[in-house]
Amino acid sequence: MMKLRIKDSDISIEIIDKEQNLLSALLDEKIYVKSSCGGHASCSDCMIKIVSGEDNLTPPPFEEINLLGNVFHITKERLACQTKITGDITIDISHHDETADQKKLKNKKHNTKSQSRVRKQAEVKEILDERKASSEEKTKARDEKDNSYFEHWKKEKDPDAPPRKLDGGNRPMPFVTPEKEPQEEKQATSDSDQQETLENVDEVDNNK
Ligand code: FES
Repeated sequence: MMKLRIKDSDISIEIIDKEQNLLSALLDEKIYVKSSCGGHASCSDCMIKIVSGEDNLTPPPFEEINLLGNVFHITKERLACQTKITGDITIDISHHDETADQKKLKNKKHNTKSQSRVRKQAEVKEILDERKASSEEKTKARDEKDNSYFEHWKKEKDPDAPPRKLDGGNRPMPFVTPEKEPQEEKQATSDSDQQETLENVDEVDNNK
């Protein structure tokens, strides 16, 4: 037998069935815990805080991790509908306030009623006709507008215009290497240069 204690109260529940989750155990004892999805792990409203005995809990299933994340070691929060106990624990359910929740629900219902509006069939038909007429008007106006931008291919071609150059006209010029000079010509040039240099040297000596 496991004991479930509630923080700041004298309530202590004895749980015999190991397969019973905390939400159902609390509701059996007429202790209020908020729940919108009926224990299907999709609303996260039944969240409770574990005060002590965190080692006596079943590990969170995939659905619970999906809703609360894998941060129990930091937050100490669990979904009551997905948690079963294996030993004594103490929980905090002070944030589950039935009166406040009912008040909120009442306000919500009231607002929903005031916002929703039922239209008669004739009124709906009138609105639909109006929308249809407006859309037809818009289409007509668009057709009348100059569609040159959208339908440029429909424009008449200028017969005097030069033929359009397609891609490939702007390729870079090929790199041309200078041709090699013939070997003999090169030799002759170097000999004449040498002769000229010697003559210049002789001239300089004579001037001295
Ligand atoms: S009752 Fe909805 S998640 Fe637990």
